[in-house]
Amino acid sequence: MKKLFALLLALAMVLSLAACGEKTGSTPSESTNPGTETTTGGETDKPGEGKTVAIAMPTQSSERWIKDGDNMKAQLEALGYEVLLQYAEDDPQQQVSQIENFVAQMVDCIVIAAVDSGALTTVEAQAKTAGIPIIAYDRLLMDTDAVSYYASFDNKGVGTAIANYIVDAKDLEAARAAGESYTIEFFMGSPDDNNAVLLYQGIMEVLQPYLDDGTLVCKTGRTSFEETCILRWSQETAQQWCENYLSGFYADEDLDIACSAFDGFSYGIRSALEGAGYTEANWPLITGQDAELMAVKNIISGKQTMSIYKDTRLLAEKCVTMVNAVVTGSEPEINDTETYDNGVFVVPSYLCTPQAVDVNNYEELLVDGGYYTAEELAG
Ligand code: GAL
Repeated sequence: MKKLFALLLALAMVLSLAACGEKTGSTPSESTNPGTETTTGGETDKPGEGKTVAIAMPTQSSERWIKDGDNMKAQLEALGYEVLLQYAEDDPQQQVSQIENFVAQMVDCIVIAAVDSGALTTVEAQAKTAGIPIIAYDRLLMDTDAVSYYASFDNKGVGTAIANYIVDAKDLEAARAAGESYTIEFFMGSPDDNNAVLLYQGIMEVLQPYLDDGTLVCKTGRTSFEETCILRWSQETAQQWCENYLSGFYADEDLDIACSAFDGFSYGIRSALEGAGYTEANWPLITGQDAELMAVKNIISGKQTMSIYKDTRLLAEKCVTMVNAVVTGSEPEINDTETYDNGVFVVPSYLCTPQAVDVNNYEELLVDGGYYTAEELAG
């Protein structure tokens, strides 16, 4: 088996060397990342020419992953790569099969945003044996030495930004000084996603003191990660939990803050609140993450208070730089070599900076920044 791989690898190398030697004769590329191309004698060599990159994405049920996939595909294709893009619809086993297939096809690089990263260790080892490099996209790949690089946002920073927003919007310092309190409930991310753990840590680093001194009151008492994490980031579970919380604990007092780690949760929370009769007069502060189109529309209409803007174009760009580096044997830009220990080693990472978005800055950040058009948000 190993011999076969070695043979295939050698063949692939010969073919790719041959491809490198060819001039593509293409017109100047539309690349968003011009630094990765070389021009010789007026002609452009696309680094991806003759190479295939496979992308394994978690689900199409959330808009953000569709944007992530589309952005990456477009950017890689602009560099000449052939792209295989597949979604696993939140089924870990389906994702394993998809990656097994990518390995069997001997693609040149695999980009993975895991459904359940713990389920991928065997197939990742197969990729490594076959000499196929892996890049972890947005979610860290745990317990493997087969991953070369990790492109993500500062996930603890997401939590800190959400919590700081709550502190400022509700002026918790003034509330504390006046001996007032606000009720709060937590809806945290999937326990099989390392991002969710870091986000929770970021939130609690800021909010725990207010919970400890009673400025924030969590009436269900569910404040630990174990009690608040929602498997596979399920909108339905978030809605169900919120319905139960409202009927079981908030019959006599309003919920003031729904601390949600994901826009999908926030849609479920919104439905639960509407079902329980909440109106503009007692609508709580609802946080979120991803600045999905629907979330931003909800922010404009007042049904969600804020979200975290993670520019998927930027993340895709950083990931594409990593793909290019592993395929061409160069070094990509890295800005973190300490934080992301996957249980086997600290994975060299590039972390983009998340930004809080609300009704006051969405136009500047999202419309002027070209993420959404005013028409999309109005529609
Ligand atoms: C996380 C990601 C979030 C959100 C969530 C649910 O891994 O960091 O931005 O998208 O998945 O899809």
